[in-house]
Amino acid sequence: MQYDFENAPDRSKTDSVKWDVKSSELPMWIADMDFKTAPEIIAAMQQKLTLGAFGYEFPQADYFNAVADWYETEHNHRPQTNWMIFTTGVVPAISSIVRRISHIGDNVLVQEPVYNIFYNSILNNGRHVLSSDLAFDGKSYSINWAELEQKLAEPLTTLMIFCNPHNPVGKVWTSEEVQKIADLCH
Ligand SMILES: Cc1ncc(COP(=O)(O)O)c(C=O)c1O
Repeated sequence: MQYDFENAPDRSKTDSVKWDVKSSELPMWIADMDFKTAPEIIAAMQQKLTLGAFGYEFPQADYFNAVADWYETEHNHRPQTNWMIFTTGVVPAISSIVRRISHIGDNVLVQEPVYNIFYNSILNNGRHVLSSDLAFDGKSYSINWAELEQKLAEPLTTLMIFCNPHNPVGKVWTSEEVQKIADLCH
């Protein structure tokens, strides 16, 4: 299958949040894809549209296998499908994890500056935001390890929301950094 990464449909005047801008503006603030959705996905959606009825559905084995296939191809690791739960997005999943893992009044650690919606998942569930701010040297961001360790060790800190790649600093953490964070959390 050939995928078109050259052309982007004109989404101005389509109620697009991203493209609701003046003609001279480039909307570079939102993580919204400009390329067309993959033809296989459009074809599957068209099949549903042709049926014309849109009731409740259960995601089936093919859905979970597709996720496992993706991890295997991209990360050389195949998660078991019985580890997976369907959610309607990253943010609903984070909110559910906040409610499951931590308790009201606990600290949830983040690394500021970070994706603003994390705060909704924490504060709307009655938890506190505790930031171990990323350090900026004028060129790139890094972790203040001593401070992170100290804040993770606070008894009220029961959860960390780790952003990788980091939004907005755009950093992909190295495997050593990810391992170190996992060890500190543990
Ligand atoms: C770090 C991060 N988490 C979650 C989301 C939301 O993802 P989704 O809308 O696919 O659930 C975004 C969107 O930009 C994001 O940057």
